[in-house]
Amino acid sequence: MNIALKEVDYEQPQADASGSVCATKHAWARVPEEPGPAERAALKDKIRRLLKEKNAVMVSHYYVHPDLQDLAEATGGLVSDSLEMARFGRDHAAQTLVVSGVRFMGETAKILSPEKRVLMPDLDATCSLDLGCPADEFGAFCDAHPDRTVVVYANTSAAVKARSDWLVTSSCALDIVKALKDKGHKILWAPDRHLGGYIQRETGADMLMWNGACIVHNEFKAVELKYLMQQHPAAKVLVHPESPSEVVALADAVGSTSAILKAAHEMDADMFIVATDNGMMHKLRALNPGKLFLEAPTAGNSATCKSCAHCPWMAMNSLADVARVLETGANEIFVDPAIIPRARLPIDRMLAFTSALKGGLDAGSLVPNIGAA
Ligand code: 13P
Ligand code: SF4
Repeated sequence: MNIALKEVDYEQPQADASGSVCATKHAWARVPEEPGPAERAALKDKIRRLLKEKNAVMVSHYYVHPDLQDLAEATGGLVSDSLEMARFGRDHAAQTLVVSGVRFMGETAKILSPEKRVLMPDLDATCSLDLGCPADEFGAFCDAHPDRTVVVYANTSAAVKARSDWLVTSSCALDIVKALKDKGHKILWAPDRHLGGYIQRETGADMLMWNGACIVHNEFKAVELKYLMQQHPAAKVLVHPESPSEVVALADAVGSTSAILKAAHEMDADMFIVATDNGMMHKLRALNPGKLFLEAPTAGNSATCKSCAHCPWMAMNSLADVARVLETGANEIFVDPAIIPRARLPIDRMLAFTSALKGGLDAGSLVPNIGAA
């Protein structure tokens, strides 16, 4: 496997007066305060009313605040992984989508439905993978390797998507890369090196990697996880593949947020250790009332992250901002119309491939032989 060209920075944090540096401190500073019970109930009522008035629907990711997950479901919207969020937003009749998650999710919704209004609670909610893969540098990387099929993770900007041949999320990356390998493709992969490494180990595909990482999953510690596993030998370990390879190696099940939910439901165990953003705990516990879920450790002797396994950008999403954007139309997502058709191509390919897979059809037939694309 070829490893990346260079390290990429996603933020340049300054040490504070105490000398401590947290790469996400600017994002954490923006995380809204929890409303009190009365304000919370009033905000929920207001959002319900506004959703109806504005012909809008809520689409939330599993990592956002439980209130935003529950309200999306209770109002006919969706809480899910990034793949199903994209599909749902495209297929729903509502003319306004309120996407609670991070920026790439809102952009994907807009690319798929340019005629709809896509609003987000906080437009600064981004992702270290997106920040760590600037379109110009990525374009130069692609230019230097024209013989490779470009496979890009959904956690990227519209401009990076527009340079790719295929889009993937962690729900479908394994299947798509396997199908590409079977048709003789050599792959240029971006941006998450851990997810890419996992896919490479599982498929044996020839993959040249961009060197990005998720600041949340990158912090899970294998040594500390082993210690927790010793304390709970009956617990099964569920790991998101954005985690480091030593952590993935300890897993009983590896997969996307949806795959983690499915595994927790289906596995014959009462206790689980979960290595993904702790926003997942809400759904895991709600759907499995008799089971116990423990967070995999991020702290340890070498810990640098202050996220405690929660994405600071996901944490920016709040009830108050959902109500505000619905009321005022603020925080609309725009994508340069000139790049929408090209950015849409790899997303459409992913959605067609995964629909075929779901329908039991030959999804591999949607992948051209190398040289035929
Ligand atoms: P999923 O595609 O599994 O929902 O993950 C998105 C993400 O941002 C994970 O950190
Ligand atoms: Fe990005 Fe990681 Fe946050 Fe997901 S959890 S949005 S990959 S920074």
